[in-house]
Amino acid sequence: MSLIAAKDRIIFALDVPNLSEAENYIDLLKDHVGVFKIGLELFVACGPSVVKAVAERSGKGIFLDMKFHDIPATVKGAMMSASSLGADFITVHCDEGRGLLQAVVEGSAGTKTKVLGVTVLTSLSGEDLVEIGIDEKYRTPQDLVLHRARLARLANCSGVVCSGQEAKAVRQEFGDDFLIITPGIRGSGDAVGDQKRVVTPYEAIYNGADYIVVGRPIRNAPDPPRAAAIIAEEIEKALKDRENGRVGKIE
Ligand code: C5P
Repeated sequence: MSLIAAKDRIIFALDVPNLSEAENYIDLLKDHVGVFKIGLELFVACGPSVVKAVAERSGKGIFLDMKFHDIPATVKGAMMSASSLGADFITVHCDEGRGLLQAVVEGSAGTKTKVLGVTVLTSLSGEDLVEIGIDEKYRTPQDLVLHRARLARLANCSGVVCSGQEAKAVRQEFGDDFLIITPGIRGSGDAVGDQKRVVTPYEAIYNGADYIVVGRPIRNAPDPPRAAAIIAEEIEKALKDRENGRVGKIE
């Protein structure tokens, strides 16, 4: 029996340019999703106070998607500042190595914030990886995702962000005590946009993801609460199917 309700596994991306638009979506969706994600657009526009504003208005979990990427000392300091804001999750890129990941985890010490390593952005394909200079042997993104997830695990991150195409392999290798957060979520009728490694909500959860990150498929829907409710139904079905003989854990 799953302890986290299906709708609470939806992390809604507040990819909007100001607080008043964010508040509109919070009011519309707070009964339909479990976590609100503050990304670079909203954070840069509003500053750190936006974290408290979103938390107080929504009463929901906060995913602060900073995607930190700098030298360890700088990022450790940034993490100490960011984790004091009270977010539940904060992200850091895995591709600067274990030292950076460790520094970020140290920076979160004594707070409730869980550090998640971003393995390979869901907007990148195998061809894109080769184009930016990643070794040909990692043309299959899953191999690079697993490699970077190992670094995140060694550095004591709470989990990783990866696409639903890799979630099953990550769950199999790292077991139940490792969070998997999956963006790049698209239904059959949704525009893919800049995302490349996409899966449906059902596939992501069935493959072992704990949470899915959804932005445009809900934001651009004619009826966002209805779109979220349909996604929650899919998650519910995937959780049931998972219980009946699946790969990963059931919390
Ligand atoms: O609109 P869409 O559903 O594609 O939004 C995806 C969200 O997930 C964006 O806010 C993006 O920053 C975030 N994200 C991602 N890929 C990652 C990590 C986060 O697309 N690897």
